[in-house]
Amino acid sequence: MSLKNTKVGFIGCGNLAQAILKSVLVNNIMSKDQFAFTNRSEAKANKIKSDFGISSYDSNDELIDSSDIVIIAVKPQDFLEAVEPFVSNFRPEQIVVSLAAGVDFKSLQALVTTTPRLVRVMTNTPASVSKGVVGYYHSREDGPLDSTIEYIFGSLGRVYPLKDEDEFAAFTVAVCSGVGFIFEIMSYWSEWMEQYGISRLAAENMILDTFKGTVLLAEQNSDMSLTQLQDKVVSKKGVTQAGLDAMNEMELERLFRVSFEKAVMRDKELAKFISP
Ligand SMILES: NC(=O)c1ccc[n+]([C@@H]2O[C@H](COP(=O)([O-])OP(=O)(O)OC[C@H]3O[C@@H](n4cnc5c(N)ncnc54)[C@H](OP(=O)(O)O)[C@@H]3O)[C@@H](O)[C@H]2O)c1
Repeated sequence: MSLKNTKVGFIGCGNLAQAILKSVLVNNIMSKDQFAFTNRSEAKANKIKSDFGISSYDSNDELIDSSDIVIIAVKPQDFLEAVEPFVSNFRPEQIVVSLAAGVDFKSLQALVTTTPRLVRVMTNTPASVSKGVVGYYHSREDGPLDSTIEYIFGSLGRVYPLKDEDEFAAFTVAVCSGVGFIFEIMSYWSEWMEQYGISRLAAENMILDTFKGTVLLAEQNSDMSLTQLQDKVVSKKGVTQAGLDAMNEMELERLFRVSFEKAVMRDKELAKFISP
């Protein structure tokens, strides 16, 4: 697919917008002159212009008027102020993408009524090294919209369509917060090794290699399920089985499920501030 003459404008150009710009430009997905942005502080705007060589607008209405795709990349608490005064500027064929974590789709729809081509996109932090997982949701059949989103965000990692807000919430927790959960688990793991005298650096590297190797093994044996792969490590009454038995006794799975559900509840609570 090609978006050769498409103009993309970012409202807010912080960490995530810059990560997207970087990966799209480095991978030659689109060219510099197809992008523009606005940013609240002038100092950051000037730095972005010099780092990326892309143009900026002084106001969000000008940016909306000159873009085919508008990507709203401000923090949730800045969302209303950044978008509400300019909602009448959006045009029916324009694609409006929201990256804001706490703004649910209904709120976006209630706010932006002049175009139905609204999309929520969520990505996790490994996107900054092009190994992210990106999820998106929009509410109608629109093939060109799907391929446009997959094209632009594909440079950040693998892109998955989600079919409703419930799936979006599960994605947010498992995939985006998931990175935080995995770091937590890695820390327990490495701190436990340190108690056996292994240095922090060595322990952390061993853990990283263990996670990396496990993922690679699974990827290279994609014909096998995760349970089948796990069975290859476990022998009856063996060492791994003893550890797994203890995890089952302490209901590790239940602990995870409860933690994930609490995170989903928080995601919903945060979304309330902009709900119609
Ligand atoms: N970073 C991630 O990996 C990640 C992952 C998933 C979701 N998200 C979501 O993506 C959004 C952006 O996150 P971020 O980490 O990139 O935040 P960020 O670094 O704070 O970037 C937001 C940018 O928006 C600018 N801004 C605020 N109000 C504005 C307005 N009215 N008009 C124009 N620009 C405005 C800010 O400008 P100043 O700072 O100059 O004031 C800032 O540069 C958030 O909603 C977050 O929930 C981020």
